[in-house]
Amino acid sequence: MNPAMNSENSSAFPPGTFRRQDETPDAEFYDHPRLVTHIDAAAIAAVTQLYREYFPAGSTLLDLMSSWVSHLPAEVAYRRVVGLGMNEVELRANPRLAEYVVQDLNQTPVLPFQDNTFEGAAICVSIDYLTQPVAVLRELARVLQPDAPLVVTFSNRCFPSKAVAAWHALDDRGHLALVQQYLQAAGSWGAIELLDRSPAPRRSDPLFAVVGRVVGG
Ligand SMILES: C[S@@+](CC[C@H](N)C(=O)[O-])C[C@H]1O[C@@H](n2cnc3c(N)ncnc32)[C@H](O)[C@@H]1O
Repeated sequence: MNPAMNSENSSAFPPGTFRRQDETPDAEFYDHPRLVTHIDAAAIAAVTQLYREYFPAGSTLLDLMSSWVSHLPAEVAYRRVVGLGMNEVELRANPRLAEYVVQDLNQTPVLPFQDNTFEGAAICVSIDYLTQPVAVLRELARVLQPDAPLVVTFSNRCFPSKAVAAWHALDDRGHLALVQQYLQAAGSWGAIELLDRSPAPRRSDPLFAVVGRVVGG
């Protein structure tokens, strides 16, 4: 790996890539709970179907940038699901989480978990808010077991003031390529798939996914 990439995103992405309209601490923006869904029911069903396909029953999962709902299939039992997000009320209300951590990944991208803890991880409609995505994805590769899948999903909606500049500059295809670039810059990710799982009919929210697996072992 290019050693310069180890320091942070700087060499892989131009200056301004991770700037946001609202640079105030994320803790302020997320201090009140939003017990809402951020995409419509058809798009959520597409997320749930991806989890059905990629996360084996009985596995230990990390829901990163989690809230009060994880979109995991109701009929599948997992050994343990851990959530990390910004709002404690939301996380406490999430019935799938065995435990949760409140942490600002833009301040502290280091994940508070041991190596090889999880057998799968999800980031749902949230990756656009990360200002240090490469550092976070490097950490995810550390805490996931070899060959474990990461499922990153997104639509075409966001909290505009908190999404990074690169997200605003790109369309859906560009977002897929950007997330792929994040994974490649982080290293340790392979079998990367770019998926359009937008439900039909097209009047529902679109749903895109980037899936990668941890290389090595
Ligand atoms: C649009 S919501 C999506 C929530 C959930 N993943 C879902 O699918 O409904 C964005 C989530 O990203 C999380 N988030 C935003 N900025 C964050 C940060 N700096 N560190 C950790 N989590 C963050 C928030 O806690 C919030 O739950």
